[in-house]
Amino acid sequence: MEWGMANRLSQIIQNDRHTLIMPVDHGYFQGPTRNLEEPRKTIEPLLPYSDALFITRGVLRHSVDPDNTKPVILRVSGGATMVGKDLANEGIAASMEEAIRLNVSAIGLSIFVGTDYERESLLNLANLVNEGEKYGIPVMAVTAVGKELGKRDARYLALASRIAAELGARVVKTYWCEDFEKVTKGCPVPVVMAGGPRVNTELEVFDFVYDGMQNGAIGVNLGRNIWQNAFPVAMIKAIRAIIHGNANPKKAQEIYDKEKGQQRKK
Ligand code: 5RP
Repeated sequence: MEWGMANRLSQIIQNDRHTLIMPVDHGYFQGPTRNLEEPRKTIEPLLPYSDALFITRGVLRHSVDPDNTKPVILRVSGGATMVGKDLANEGIAASMEEAIRLNVSAIGLSIFVGTDYERESLLNLANLVNEGEKYGIPVMAVTAVGKELGKRDARYLALASRIAAELGARVVKTYWCEDFEKVTKGCPVPVVMAGGPRVNTELEVFDFVYDGMQNGAIGVNLGRNIWQNAFPVAMIKAIRAIIHGNANPKKAQEIYDKEKGQQRKK
C-alpha cells in the first residue's frame, strides 16, 4: 500500500486496529434529524471521544472549525431523500477535487445491493475507487439497506460487504446481525458497524457492539444510538470502552451509569 493511502487509513484506524467513527451525515437524506438539528451542538461534545467524523461537505464547512485535527470521512453520495421516490437512487454529489481541497482522510458512499439502482451504485463505488486510488484516498462503502431493513441478515450483509470489497472499498460499513462472523469472514477488508434507528435500551447497543467486535468488526460508525441518547457523552464513553478497552456489555453499562450520574449533577 502506498504511503498516502496507508497514512490516511492509519489516521482513522487507531494503533490497536480499532476505530470509533462518528457519523453525522444523516441530514443529506433525512433533513434535520432529531438531535442533529444544529450539527455543531451535536458534534462538539462528542468529537474528543471520536476517532473520525463521517460528514457531508456542507455540514463540515459550517459546523466543524478548520483547526479540527480529527480525520474526516466525506460522505460523497447523495441525490435521493426520504420523501422522494427511491432512497436507493443516489449519485455522486461531491468531487474528488473537493475531497482533496477539504483535506479528508477518506470518502464514503452508499451502495444499494438488490435494489433497482444496484448497478449505478456499484459503478459509482468502482469509479470512486479508481479516482481515490490515484490520489491515495481510501473509499468506505456503506452497505445501505434503505427502507428495506428486513434485509439485515448475515446472508445479505455478507453478500453486499464482499461485493464492496471486491470492487475496491478499503473499509466497509454494514449493520450488525446475528452470525456476524459470516459477514466479517467473507469480507477481506476491515468492517465497521452502523447502529441504525435508536434501540430501546443502552444495553442492547452494548450487546451488539460487543458481539460484533468479538466476531471480527474493527469498530463502529454509530450515530443515532449515541447522539439521540439523553446522555450522548456517557454513551460514547461506554462504547469507546468496548472498542478500545475490550470492555464487556456489563462494564460498558457501568461506565454509562456512572457518567450519566456525573452529567446529571452538572
Ligand atoms: C446514513 C449513514 C449513517 O452514517 C449510518 O447509518 C450510521 O448511523 P446510524 O448509527 O445512526 O445508523 O450512512 O446514511
